[in-house]
Amino acid sequence: MGTMLPPVTCANLLKPIEEIVGCGPLLWPDGQFVNGSPDTPVRGVLVTWMAEATALEKAAASGCNVVLCHEAPFFEEKHELPPYRWLNAANDVTELPWHPNRRRRELIQRYKLTLVQCHYGLDRFPIYDAFIQALGLTTAVHEQGWESIYQLPQMLSVAQLARAIKRRLGIQGTVRVVGDLRRRVRKIASLWGGLGLSGNIYWARRAITHGAEAAIAGEMDEAFIKFAAEVGLPVIETSHQLSEEIGLQRYAAVLQGRYPKLKVATFFTGRPYRTI
Ligand SMILES: [Fe+2]
Ligand SMILES: [Fe+2]
Repeated sequence: MGTMLPPVTCANLLKPIEEIVGCGPLLWPDGQFVNGSPDTPVRGVLVTWMAEATALEKAAASGCNVVLCHEAPFFEEKHELPPYRWLNAANDVTELPWHPNRRRRELIQRYKLTLVQCHYGLDRFPIYDAFIQALGLTTAVHEQGWESIYQLPQMLSVAQLARAIKRRLGIQGTVRVVGDLRRRVRKIASLWGGLGLSGNIYWARRAITHGAEAAIAGEMDEAFIKFAAEVGLPVIETSHQLSEEIGLQRYAAVLQGRYPKLKVATFFTGRPYRTI
């Protein structure tokens, strides 16, 4: 009689992260299980940045019962009072037949999918490191976790750096750049994912404090752009999604390596918009 391997569970899917973080998902600051729990057996897992309808369809079509996503599985609206709202009560948006949340919930029900959202954990391992490596940043001049600053082999103008990054990440079209294109820079901070949003301005402020001369962002909003311009920090924007999919791709490979018999599928799209 052959040895029966115990089934892989959702908790097992997070084990590689748990080993890095040093504690289990219950102690991580965010993340959730939708329609399942840590004990849910995994027949197959699809790794995606966001649990959009197309990703859920692909999971079902490729025989996966679990979707591992990084971002929040549903869209949420801020609850605000008049005069910002014409109506007092915030409607339950999921009642709208065309709403993505409704469609996602329907697909989760129809295919009996379990959604595992892992936000902080996947940023810890391996999203941050994978993006740094994809950028070719190897020498840290200030080493402090996510606040580390890296030194380029030589000074580059901001324009040269932007072109080098486009090449390395395979970005087609244009990228947005804040600051003087001719400024020569060497010390670089990563503001991957959403750290180039004004809600996360802490990270840019810390990067400047640690001596960053330029930053590579995932996604920027214009309040952040004004901040960076006013303090004189050149910033090159890649994409929130693209900057994080690099690590998610690596995580899928980690899972496949650890559970060779498990079906591991991925759904990645790169930048979720075009530039013309
Ligand atoms: Fe992230
Ligand atoms: Fe993110």
